[in-house]
Amino acid sequence: MNISLLEFSEVDLDFIYKGLSHPDVIKYYGFQCYNFDDAIIELDWYNKQVNEQLGHWWKIQVDNELVGAVGFNHFIKESGELECGFWLLPEFWGRGIIKQAFPIALRRIQNELPVKTIVASVETENIATLKLVKKLGFFEIKTVFNAEFKKGKPINMVNIELPVW
Ligand SMILES: CC(C)(COP(=O)(O)OP(=O)(O)OC[C@H]1O[C@@H](n2cnc3c(N)ncnc32)[C@H](O)[C@@H]1OP(=O)(O)O)[C@@H](O)C(=O)NCCC(=O)NCCS
Repeated sequence: MNISLLEFSEVDLDFIYKGLSHPDVIKYYGFQCYNFDDAIIELDWYNKQVNEQLGHWWKIQVDNELVGAVGFNHFIKESGELECGFWLLPEFWGRGIIKQAFPIALRRIQNELPVKTIVASVETENIATLKLVKKLGFFEIKTVFNAEFKKGKPINMVNIELPVW
């Protein structure tokens, strides 16, 4: 498997829309494209992370095919905390792609920002992600019950952390 992490640009709007409007991808994801304009909002947000030194998101290409995205955002200078995230089109799940792509992304962001801890919040029902982050070395810090409301229903989130140095 030949994995590359590449910069996002305007040519990727269709791909962003395809991924972040797919029901299986957005089920437990923090952002959703309801229409094509939302893909533009997401691309602007990726660019803002880089321009304001808050993080960096890359598209993932496997053997010349775009499969998903991995990245970092919301860097907090004072604490060195940085949020991570990732998504794959469902036909590419279960092949260990993020397990390979995440360490590459991590090495790159460590060259850009003085990161101390990678953090994320994962819905307790997002079993695929919880299994994956364990394999990536994250620790579960705590479960926050009724952390948010989604479509009128309370959801529980697991806060996870990966110390880096
Ligand atoms: C999270 C995600 C990227 C997983 O990536 P991946 O490269 O498929 O991860 P892995 O191949 O290591 O698989 C992780 C686990 O998910 C399981 N899995 C794979 N496909 C699955 C599916 N269709 N349904 C449920 N679980 C699945 C795998 O069996 C694996 O479990 P195992 O370790 O017991 O074998 C992918 O599930 C995804 O894009 N989810 C939607 C977006 C999302 O929720 N992102 C995280 C937000 S915090």
